Amino acid sequence: MTEKSDDSDISRPYEKLILVCTQGKSCPRQGGAEICSKLREQVFQAGQKNRIRVVKSGCLAQCGHGPIVAVEPEGTWFSAVQADHCEKLADWILNRGPLPEGLIFDPPEEGKNILPEADWRIPPQTSGEAGNSAI
Ligand code: FES
Repeated sequence: MTEKSDDSDISRPYEKLILVCTQGKSCPRQGGAEICSKLREQVFQAGQKNRIRVVKSGCLAQCGHGPIVAVEPEGTWFSAVQADHCEKLADWILNRGPLPEGLIFDPPEEGKNILPEADWRIPPQTSGEAGNSAI
């Protein structure tokens, strides 16, 4: 059996949970699965897979703003995350880089925020590759 760290107040098996939307109307068509894979790889390469869990999430009801990445327990959500953002986002998640402020999600309203496809921040992919956008 693996020993817990010396933080005896810990009540969860992972320090951070990263939810990457990969199901629903938009995120799967905007590269959500690729984002999840890239973030997982960064966490794995940093040797932090026992501290940080990156999971594929169901729809987070923010369709069209995605791909959506939610970092808990920080409660910081990111929108329109693209593959070329993952290294900087992972650096922040791993506490080795600044917060990528340009990716922080600013939800229009509390609760559901679903855009019609014509207004999606990232257009749906047709070839399996997401477009690039700067942070
Ligand atoms: S498909 Fe990602 S929030 Fe709905």
